Amino acid sequence: MNPPQVAGPMQAADPLAFCAEEVGRIEAAGLLRRVRALQSASEPEVTLNGRRVLCLASNNYLGLAAHPEVVDAAAEAARRYGAGAGSARLITGGLVLHDELEARLAAFKGTEAALLFSSGYLANLGTVSALVGPGDAVFSDALNHASIIDGCRLSRAEVHVYRHADVADLDERLANWRRRVPTESRALVVTDSVFSMDGDIAPLPDIVDACERHGAILMVDEAHATGVVGPGGRGAVAGYGLDGRVGVVMGTLSKAFGAAGGFIAGSADLCAYLRNRARSFIFDTALPPPAAAAALTALTIVEREPERPVRARRLATRLATGLRAAGYAVPDPPAAVLPAVIGAPEAALALSARLLDSGVLVTAIRPPTVPQGTSRLRATVMSTHTDAQIDRAAAAFAAAGPPSG
Ligand SMILES: Cc1ncc(COP(=O)(O)O)c(C=O)c1O
Repeated sequence: MNPPQVAGPMQAADPLAFCAEEVGRIEAAGLLRRVRALQSASEPEVTLNGRRVLCLASNNYLGLAAHPEVVDAAAEAARRYGAGAGSARLITGGLVLHDELEARLAAFKGTEAALLFSSGYLANLGTVSALVGPGDAVFSDALNHASIIDGCRLSRAEVHVYRHADVADLDERLANWRRRVPTESRALVVTDSVFSMDGDIAPLPDIVDACERHGAILMVDEAHATGVVGPGGRGAVAGYGLDGRVGVVMGTLSKAFGAAGGFIAGSADLCAYLRNRARSFIFDTALPPPAAAAALTALTIVEREPERPVRARRLATRLATGLRAAGYAVPDPPAAVLPAVIGAPEAALALSARLLDSGVLVTAIRPPTVPQGTSRLRATVMSTHTDAQIDRAAAAFAAAGPPSG
């Protein structure tokens, strides 16, 4: 005999069905993102699907991610301190290694102090949202990195997005805002120094002047400048001779330093404040010991071998010449990031695929990472590329045809 049928609850529709629908829409717009899996370290040549290809798609600008001394330092730190820090810095995750790295980063950046975060993303998120809040305002360049944009949103301050690198627009917005708010309201101006997707450099001297005129705090994100531009790779702030005039300098350990992590460099008071108010510092497990040790050794190498940043810039200039000859407008002088703007996302993907066929890996960057209509290939150099590799990449761009899309 069959058991009696019991009426159960009606089968509800899958509440996550929107995921597949949205992914379908993203794919139809040519904007679907897929993760590539390399089978080797991030070096001038990488192994992808079993094939060696020339890599122009890594932020390992000084070739330090797989440098033997850096790798040894990470391994030794793992043996001594463990793979993870075990808890937040403010609990028991703080190690002498973190203190030493902070002191060395402060000396490198020419500031009184530095504070580590476990990524550059978290450094921006926590710092922007700690420095301004409701009743304050943040002025952010239109092409700033997503981590800055998210920090602005999280802060609940008024957000003013000024036109890219346009100091007149920034100045006018600061003046208008100052006229209508109480004097105790804080203004924070925040900008990338080397822009991550365009490779151009913010007009920092004029931005500093505008901030000083209006009593605004200035925060400069040197993620793509640290280790690459300025004297000894100290960044664009140092390169422009602005040491001491930028209150908040942010950097990453994940790009030229070849490790992982982020930091803020500034006064001891700023770092003490952030240690107490930046939620992404307080409530996050400390930087893993291998990453801290790797970054410390990478910093030693950068200071010992100042020719690395010089060579990265020379190779960028060499690639820029090739890209210009192939019809692309690239910044002059270039940092290590060179954009080849195409336009439509499908055209950027098609060019990336053609280049990969010819053995050159350059990633297509599409909205929302870059504005609509400016999909591009983002080419990056490493100081460890050879001249011949850079020439091969330039030739591949030329052979792939003029920019179109
Ligand atoms: C300008 C800029 N700021 C911050 C970050 C975040 O740094 P991280 O990758 O170390 O989290 C990045 C990179 O991804 C970046 O390009």
